Amino acid sequence: MLAISPVDRIFVLTGAGVSAESGIPTFRGVNGLWRNYRIEEVASPHAWRRDPRLVWEFYSMRRRVAADAKPNPAHVALAKLEQRLRDRLFLCTQNVDDLHEQAGSKRVVHVHGELFRSRCDTCSRAPFHDTNTYDPPAELPQCDCGGWIRPHICWFGEMPFELDRIFRALDACTVFIAVGTSGVVEPAASFAAHVRGRAKAIYVGAEEPANASAFTECHLGKAGEMLPDLLGSF
Ligand code: APR
Repeated sequence: MLAISPVDRIFVLTGAGVSAESGIPTFRGVNGLWRNYRIEEVASPHAWRRDPRLVWEFYSMRRRVAADAKPNPAHVALAKLEQRLRDRLFLCTQNVDDLHEQAGSKRVVHVHGELFRSRCDTCSRAPFHDTNTYDPPAELPQCDCGGWIRPHICWFGEMPFELDRIFRALDACTVFIAVGTSGVVEPAASFAAHVRGRAKAIYVGAEEPANASAFTECHLGKAGEMLPDLLGSF
């Protein structure tokens, strides 16, 4: 059990590993997305300018996979934690799926965007809910302004979302828990080091992350099997 006091403020960061048991592939694991796709062809502004149809094929595939996925006990444990701690929990996910919300989490900050939202690549129209798939022969979606509709995802080389809120919550937390993330992608990979010396940093995941030295505790195993027990004591 994780020793957490009633006054603690908890920051939880989740990564692809928390959705692995729900059937959503990770990025860098066995059969991970980046083993089968080239980032520069499907997940960068350059890729979008060069071949938006290929980019939409990739995200349409991911929408189909995520649409069939269901939350696992790790998502449920975090939703229950939110019910208990209310605003003493800050849940930040690098994942673009909606499994935290499906599990009942109300306040989820998606630092890398959301798979089932799209936006215009030209005008300032707000991102909107979009479950459609756009692979051939479907037409590429176009905005009324004439711009092209793109996935509301933070691509490599783009600014992640909600960083002000995230760093305020990091500065306020007394316990930092990272779950199922390899610790190689910034800025999330530096969150644990950011709270060092001020907050307890705990890692939960299938294997040691690249930034393991930033954590005071590492619990190795599957999130769906471990998180309910580890969080059970609140
Ligand atoms: N339970 C817990 N951890 C798991 C499980 C599981 N069932 N299965 C795999 N893991 C761990 C792996 O050991 C690995 O350390 O999850 C981690 C997944 O790492 P990545 O695939 O690198 O995913 P993530 O860290 O979330 O990637 C960060 O990179 O590609 C970008 O924007 C994308 O948000 C993503 C970011």
